[in-house]
Amino acid sequence: MCGIVGYVGENNATPFLLKGLKRLEYRGYDSSGIAVLGEEIGCVKEVGKIEKLEEEVSKNELKGSIGIGHSRWATHGGVTEENAHPHWDCEKNIFVVHNGIVENYKEIKNKLIKRGHKFVSDTDTEVIAHLIEHFFKGDLESAVKKALRIIKGTYGLVVIAKKDPGKMVAARMFSPLVISVNDKGSFVASDPSAIITHSKKMIFLEDGDVAVIQKDNFVISDIKEKIKEREEVTLDWDIEDSQKNGYPHFMIKEIAEQPESITNSMRGRIVLEEGSAKLGGLELVEEELKNTKKISIIACGTSYYAGITGKYLIEEFSGVPVEVSLASEFRYRKKVIEKDETFIFISQSGETADTLAALQEVKKKDVLTLGIVNAVGSSIARETDAGVYNHAGPEIGVASTKAFTSQVVVLSLIALFLGRQRNLSLEEGKEVANTLLSLPSLVSEILKDDSEIKEVAEKYKDFKNFFFIGRRYGYPASLEGSLKLKEISYIHSEGYPAGELKHGPIALIDESFPTVAICLSNSVYEKMVSNVEEIKARNGRVIVLANRDKKDVKELTEDVIYLPTAPEFVSPVLAVVCFQLFSYYVSVSLGRDPDKPRNLAKSVTVE
Ligand code: M6R
Repeated sequence: MCGIVGYVGENNATPFLLKGLKRLEYRGYDSSGIAVLGEEIGCVKEVGKIEKLEEEVSKNELKGSIGIGHSRWATHGGVTEENAHPHWDCEKNIFVVHNGIVENYKEIKNKLIKRGHKFVSDTDTEVIAHLIEHFFKGDLESAVKKALRIIKGTYGLVVIAKKDPGKMVAARMFSPLVISVNDKGSFVASDPSAIITHSKKMIFLEDGDVAVIQKDNFVISDIKEKIKEREEVTLDWDIEDSQKNGYPHFMIKEIAEQPESITNSMRGRIVLEEGSAKLGGLELVEEELKNTKKISIIACGTSYYAGITGKYLIEEFSGVPVEVSLASEFRYRKKVIEKDETFIFISQSGETADTLAALQEVKKKDVLTLGIVNAVGSSIARETDAGVYNHAGPEIGVASTKAFTSQVVVLSLIALFLGRQRNLSLEEGKEVANTLLSLPSLVSEILKDDSEIKEVAEKYKDFKNFFFIGRRYGYPASLEGSLKLKEISYIHSEGYPAGELKHGPIALIDESFPTVAICLSNSVYEKMVSNVEEIKARNGRVIVLANRDKKDVKELTEDVIYLPTAPEFVSPVLAVVCFQLFSYYVSVSLGRDPDKPRNLAKSVTVE
């Protein structure tokens, strides 16, 4: 995710900005830039590492006591110097750094172009600079507030203006900003880690806040000019802690971020009144998708399990048959590719060697290729014909967490879209859309109190083998649960479709081999209960994932993890969040490092 840092004070802003950006590096970025206001505003931007920016800045003598900096993780527009922040207006008076997404940027941009504004980037952020310019009459605060009345979407932004010096104007809507003041000046950042070395006292802005920050003070108000008092908080963090936002590991931080990352994956993509999804990246291929007769999904690891979930979703909502393949197998298989077949490649990193090689194989045929990718501008995103970005933000923990849930959400949106192109009724579509919209709060419910999961993890941490079983949507969820446990705790674990147990694996069951069974209140509940009974009959221990309305599960086992009741198609997301927590707590209580599991790399760019 992008990072912001800003400074106004007595000293030269440049070193503060560069140090702040370096502290934000852990968030992941692809380009960066700073703008510093002295006599003039000087701005330097670079693609790649902050070191490259530092090198360029050293050649440019950027000096001034006010400045803003940004590290960008591309969302709108590729990874280029033009698209890196800060962005400016026609007159090079106003400079902006921004985190978030301006949903109505195209509409605003078209209007501004008609008024003669000239744009140099493909970003939504540049629109903010020009819109502020449109309203600017010498008072930056007032121009920013007028612009914010028009902007729809999310923002954490900081603006400076040559013609209204001595201040930064910062505004927040769903994208964090924090202010800190010491004897050297005032600092603002998207994350305390960028500025915590200057002071541990922080003022966190709230949604709707606009702050005018000067060298020794700041005033917070809303766009209606109402003054807001915000409490000062003293953070007892060191640098490493602050990068993890106070969490002990990136993995648990990323697990906790899922209500937000799921929201970001859906933002602006659900059209409730049409009971459908609007996916900008697929607009140009809508006709081809309407005529597609078969979908093939190709991926590795967690992304492959998201792909299996996608098969169930797409077949249920649209009736289009789906085949799912592991990229490492697909690339060497004799391929029978059908006419009107569409291929979807799923990858968090967009750089996985096997998935990329499979894509290159498919591209030799005349078929449509789509990507579901988190890393903007990555190879798979560039090489597919079209696609949908996850917008889940960078995932630092090696074990995929928010990438999985976001992939499943994007696949649900695609399934809904394909369904509405075919036989899914408006009413059914609305139901699906509403369920998806409720998903972030259902996930929050699990995260709010995970004490049950922690207790079960503690009780079972010393077992050496596990099964994870489920049926229908519970099947890919059990595969992902099993992968999470084995990769971060090094406990042997197998994910199985519950119905397959009796065809062999049940021979392993005894009291030392526990099974985690997904027994949710849905179409396969009774079948799952029978599977649990079969395991118990062989002295197997069972941990059951259940909904609270099923009181009788308590008769099955004493170890129950409850999750909120929801329609079956979102159950993989909810079950997997529970498994992520379970695996995390097992790993930590065994003294493992869940962020850096042995033998694993975050991005598998070799075969
Ligand atoms: O970046 P990708 O989604 O293409 O990565 C594929 C797998 O390597 C990945 O999903 C891996 O299985 C997970 N990190 C495991 O948690």
